[in-house]
Amino acid sequence: MTVTRGLEGVVATTSSISSIIDDTLTYVGYNIDDLAVNASFEEVIYLLWHRKLPNKEELAQLTKQLADSADIPQAVIDHFKAMPINKVHPMGALRSAVSILGEFDDEAEAMDEEANYRKAIRIQAKIPTITTAFARIRKGLEPIAPRNDLSFAGNFLYMLTGEEPDSIAIEAFNKALVLHADHELNASTFTARVCVATLSDIYSGIVAAIGALKGPLHGGANERVMKMLAEIGDVTNVEPYIQQKMVNKEKIMGFGHRVYRFGDPRAKHLKEMSEKLTKLTGEPKWYDMSVAIEKTVTAEKDIPPNVDFYSASVYHSLGIDHDLFTPIFAVSRASGWLAHILEQYDNNRLIRPRAEYTGPGMQVYVPVDERM
Ligand code: ACO
Repeated sequence: MTVTRGLEGVVATTSSISSIIDDTLTYVGYNIDDLAVNASFEEVIYLLWHRKLPNKEELAQLTKQLADSADIPQAVIDHFKAMPINKVHPMGALRSAVSILGEFDDEAEAMDEEANYRKAIRIQAKIPTITTAFARIRKGLEPIAPRNDLSFAGNFLYMLTGEEPDSIAIEAFNKALVLHADHELNASTFTARVCVATLSDIYSGIVAAIGALKGPLHGGANERVMKMLAEIGDVTNVEPYIQQKMVNKEKIMGFGHRVYRFGDPRAKHLKEMSEKLTKLTGEPKWYDMSVAIEKTVTAEKDIPPNVDFYSASVYHSLGIDHDLFTPIFAVSRASGWLAHILEQYDNNRLIRPRAEYTGPGMQVYVPVDERM
């Protein structure tokens, strides 16, 4: 047996959804750089689920289906109101809430293609409503019902704040959603595929994926980037702070990637947005510190920033609570998870690797009374 730690370089499946070749990320063959500048998140959802960009009618239909499905069961709201909400991380709450959604979906156990597609729409539509409802309830505010006349990005910001967002905020948030939508066989997507490859239901796959995304080595990094920026406080503190982390052999959150050799192609778009938004909000220090951190880390270790690094200052500039950064990642990545789950069902085989055993050799069972 050859052990490949962390499955590095292992090709575990074929997929026609997204690809990373020579540090270029494409969704269904469309360069992420084109999509980030031109596409709405709704178009990207369609692209990932149908492997083609929608025409006007197809886009209008999906947009309507998403808007019509965005409400959440009262049970989710009641659950949030009953829990010790200020002690619960929003990713934990999202994980539980998606599980509850499954309990209220009459088709939860249906495994035909059409039912799974209908569930994909419902899950994609409801995750933003869950996230924003949680964010409001913990502040003692009532959740805001989704509107069907706003874009996916606009609706999220509206449900979070109760105010109609301006076009700059919508553009930035839409771009962030587009950039986070899919990423080949990343840890949470792989988790989703492993789960549903047992022919478990789609809700279980999404719950499993949310659990994997939550970790700081994956989606949880963006929240920690903001924590680091707050700890550093000022651009003059960057160098000693990073040097100390290096001496302690601590990872710098938002840097490094398993797959990219020269850098994450999503990072530059977020960097641009970070510069623009931090200037607009009168807090350029978040961008300036981020740039200084990037310079120091790349000089010391030649490790470039990943998608999570500049997204932190972008979301902060949009006035979003820091612990909502990872749920926002889930709002977007749900589209990729769902595409991969549907693809897995379509050509399924159980995913079951092996482990090289390193425990003791054969032992003789001794009854408990006779054990030392
Ligand atoms: N800061 C400092 N050193 C790092 C970092 C980092 N962020 N990332 C990697 N390294 C170093 C490691 O210390 C190691 O050095 P060594 O060989 O001298 O021991 C080497 O680079 C390889 O690192 P691994 O952790 O083995 O790389 P792996 O491919 O397993 O991990 C990962 C990739 C998890 C992304 C890693 O770079 C990391 O922990 N980054 C910080 C967390 C983060 O930003 N996660 C988000 C990733 S993107 C996403 O999931 C959306």
